[in-house]
Amino acid sequence: MKIAIVYKSITGNTKLLAEAIKEEIPTNQLVYFGEPKENIQADLYIIGSWTDKGMCATEIADFMKSIKNSKVAYFGTAGFGGSEEYFNRLFERIKTNIDDSNEILGEFFCQGKMPMQVKDRYVNLIKEHPDDKNLKVSIENFDKALTHPDKNDIQNAKEWVKNII
Ligand SMILES: Cc1cc2nc3c(=O)[nH]c(=O)nc-3n(C[C@H](O)[C@H](O)[C@H](O)COP(=O)(O)O)c2cc1C
Repeated sequence: MKIAIVYKSITGNTKLLAEAIKEEIPTNQLVYFGEPKENIQADLYIIGSWTDKGMCATEIADFMKSIKNSKVAYFGTAGFGGSEEYFNRLFERIKTNIDDSNEILGEFFCQGKMPMQVKDRYVNLIKEHPDDKNLKVSIENFDKALTHPDKNDIQNAKEWVKNII
């Protein structure tokens, strides 16, 4: 089976998962590893992205739309998501980019740390709105995300892909 790992990562979180996943693919089956581009021919596309405003990266959405009659598995990192429910909702939106002619073999998500500017913004806002509970939750979530993807996330991603292939 020809396998391609196609991913988009801005700050390196999704790249960490992509590299871990790559280690589980037999080298003679891996036909592509890298960012989306045209004419990648594979039987199974393992596609990864960071989360951008409740969706995958635009380049990944466009790439997924171009795939037909293949097998697809998706992995993502998201700044939020202490809960499976959040990841499920996210994937419901993301998978609208996958054509019905494909078979979706599964999805995997974990949290990914966010740039410090995001926290700075929350901290400034909370000075103006000290009783805002949502802002407090956002800051707590930011701090929780700081260690992710961690060893456990990486191990889970590896187990996930082993089951897929
Ligand atoms: C502009 C921007 C928008 C984001 N939107 C979301 C979002 O809607 N939901 C979410 O959970 N995380 C969001 N994040 C957090 C990133 O998806 C998260 O930190 C991810 O792990 C980054 O992956 P990367 O290091 O591979 O680029 C956003 C981050 C940025 C910078």
